Amino acid sequence: MILFKKAADLSSFIDNQRVMNKKVGFVPTMGALHAGHLSLITQSKSDNDITVCSIFVNPTQFNNPEDFKKYPITIETDIKLLEANSCDILFLPSTEEIYPPDFEKKYYQLGSIERVLEGKHRPGHFQGVCMVVERLLNIVHCDHLYLGKKDYQQCMVLKKMIEITQLKVNIIVAETIREDNGLAMSSRNQRLSNNEKQKSLSIYKALNHIKKNLKPGSLTPIIEESKTMLIESDFLIDYFEITDSNLNEVSNWDGKTPLIALVAATINNIRLIDNMIIA
Ligand code: PAF
Repeated sequence: MILFKKAADLSSFIDNQRVMNKKVGFVPTMGALHAGHLSLITQSKSDNDITVCSIFVNPTQFNNPEDFKKYPITIETDIKLLEANSCDILFLPSTEEIYPPDFEKKYYQLGSIERVLEGKHRPGHFQGVCMVVERLLNIVHCDHLYLGKKDYQQCMVLKKMIEITQLKVNIIVAETIREDNGLAMSSRNQRLSNNEKQKSLSIYKALNHIKKNLKPGSLTPIIEESKTMLIESDFLIDYFEITDSNLNEVSNWDGKTPLIALVAATINNIRLIDNMIIA
């Protein structure tokens, strides 16, 4: 694996590869890598000639400074994992490399998608995500960008950002990878104690409860039952909603509209998110 720290060096390396018609896949991460990230690397490796992974804990997407301070950093283990999974390139930039003094901040017109769910509970978060991913894509000139479905809303936001900026890149969304017991893989899981991990299973159980018991009509009772499951496991809930595929809330189901259930909840100040296609 080749390690790049400088944006200009990486861009010129990739441009040389593209001249030779090599396909480039890109997996942006904030490190603390887990099986979910590694599945994206594996998928990129099978679709492309070169796979680039970036590790950068992006300060502009954290609306909560405490969350930023406590974000797990495990660079040495990450490098070993990437090597073991035959990743070709690791981009490990400094903050100055991503946001140089002449970096021009812009505002992305994301529309209503930014005002619901994560957008509502983490003001400014998606502007920061768009800012860093646009910057990364302007460095890593890739054909395919790999994202995980656990961040369902982030995937929609980044599709919109790519539409706005007219960057020429294909987004590939991969399935959520779960632990054997159903807990969605997340870098933040590293902060959970064994007891909290056990309690966190209630998120998957609550999503499954909705999927199994879904019927046309009012969705309020089933949402309330699921919220109770989380509260009984000591979670504080930011949101637990059922929406259509465009993230519009659905409170009365016609029995036909495709539905997704999305949840964000906190245990001991550790914030977890998950979602499930339920119909
Ligand atoms: O999903 C993440 O880890 C981050 O939001 C991303 C896409 C790497 C941007 O910092």
